[in-house]
Amino acid sequence: MQDPALWVPDQAYLERPSAARIYDYLLGGAHNFACDRAVAEQALAVKPDLRTQAVANRDFLGRAVEYLTGVGIRQFLDIGSGIPAVGSVHEVARRADPDVRVVYVDQDAVAVAHAQAIVGDDPRVAVVREDLRHPDRILGDPRARAVLDLDQPVAVLLVAILHVIPDSDDPHGIIALLHGAVAPGSYLVIAHGTADGAPDEARQLETVSRNTDTPMTMRSRPDVARFFGGWDLVEPGVVWAPQWHPRPDTVVPDDPARSGNLVAVGRR
Ligand SMILES: C[S@@+](CC[C@H](N)C(=O)[O-])C[C@H]1O[C@@H](n2cnc3c(N)ncnc32)[C@H](O)[C@@H]1O
Repeated sequence: MQDPALWVPDQAYLERPSAARIYDYLLGGAHNFACDRAVAEQALAVKPDLRTQAVANRDFLGRAVEYLTGVGIRQFLDIGSGIPAVGSVHEVARRADPDVRVVYVDQDAVAVAHAQAIVGDDPRVAVVREDLRHPDRILGDPRARAVLDLDQPVAVLLVAILHVIPDSDDPHGIIALLHGAVAPGSYLVIAHGTADGAPDEARQLETVSRNTDTPMTMRSRPDVARFFGGWDLVEPGVVWAPQWHPRPDTVVPDDPARSGNLVAVGRR
């Protein structure tokens, strides 16, 4: 494994903003470059709530993982995992069971380098650089297969990633392939950016995102619900992120649309 402290990004990485690093900047992390901060600041100018949204999203991810360990899930396939900061999936899940197995997948080399450094040589965690648009390659990856037993239930996490998969890349086909590959009793978790709450800001954000590798496609509540065809939605269904199994410390509970993210969990 390459030590990310020694990893030197090539010029393209320094100049081309990346969603993983922009998100890291919004969460207050340190794994970002000037080009990422510039796009993040542009985005914050049109949508000042973006930081709140990033925190609300990360919060939801933690609550979903806790819920899933509570119903017996011991394997996680986290696609679009980003740069694992405090509250990463294996950290949260292992509070319930230290034997939980996790595969992190991201297409961003920086996110993957940092994830590898964080998980080290743990045989129950794998980090794979791959693209959600090739779910067959993810499922066939030898590192993923060494960690996950697809004959047993697995939670597939698509948290804050599907809104960078345009309809032309067939997100429904991607989810159908994942559905067909996982065992009964598996779960699908989605958090998705939407224009439902603040349409003008969200559309401007889509425009800003055209300057990144991952332009955004906001989707509506019915659009998000359609991703769960073939899965039984867990209560309370498709809701704003802060409304899904909230806790006393959940952010923006009184104005949940400020989270900008619709979320849901479904069971196969
Ligand atoms: C906003 S971050 C979300 C991180 C984490 N899932 C969370 O919610 O805290 C989105 C991540 O998806 C990754 N990503 C974007 N498009 C992807 C694709 N087609 N395949 C795999 N990863 C992708 C980005 O590199 C980024 O790290």
